[in-house]
Amino acid sequence: MAEKILAVACDHGGYELKKEILAYLDKIGAKYVDFGCDSTASVNYPDYAAKACEAIQSGECYRGILVCGTGIGMSMAANKHKGIRAACCSDTFSARMTRAHNDANVLCMGGRVVGAGLALDMVKLFLETEFEGGRHADRVAMLMAIENK
Ligand code: RB5
Repeated sequence: MAEKILAVACDHGGYELKKEILAYLDKIGAKYVDFGCDSTASVNYPDYAAKACEAIQSGECYRGILVCGTGIGMSMAANKHKGIRAACCSDTFSARMTRAHNDANVLCMGGRVVGAGLALDMVKLFLETEFEGGRHADRVAMLMAIENK
């Protein structure tokens, strides 16, 4: 099986939380590519969402984690990319269910919304939860068909 590599990116509002996430990924031995940014200097989140989403579209990465101040801008930007199903989450139930029912391939979080402890629990669930398929696969197919309208 091909190596599973995560695409991780943030803007300045998510930079501090991204550092915690990268440390966690290192600890559990998860492979990732960090697409920036690299400081708290102001940048534009759509640029960084695009870098990560394009890596998923190309097959370089299998899922992504995006962090901005709220998680909202990153999720809006990510969902403009074909094939991306990004979920902005602030709780563990949503992080688990968006994998189980929506087959989300990008988790977005707000560095000004959630603490590192909660964020890392969400990352764990996002990585470990399998898509349930079945009736949910039909719904995800409907969702993706919207892209072709
Ligand atoms: C940047 O100040 C902030 O707008 C951004 O990080 C994000 O929260 C946008 O949705």
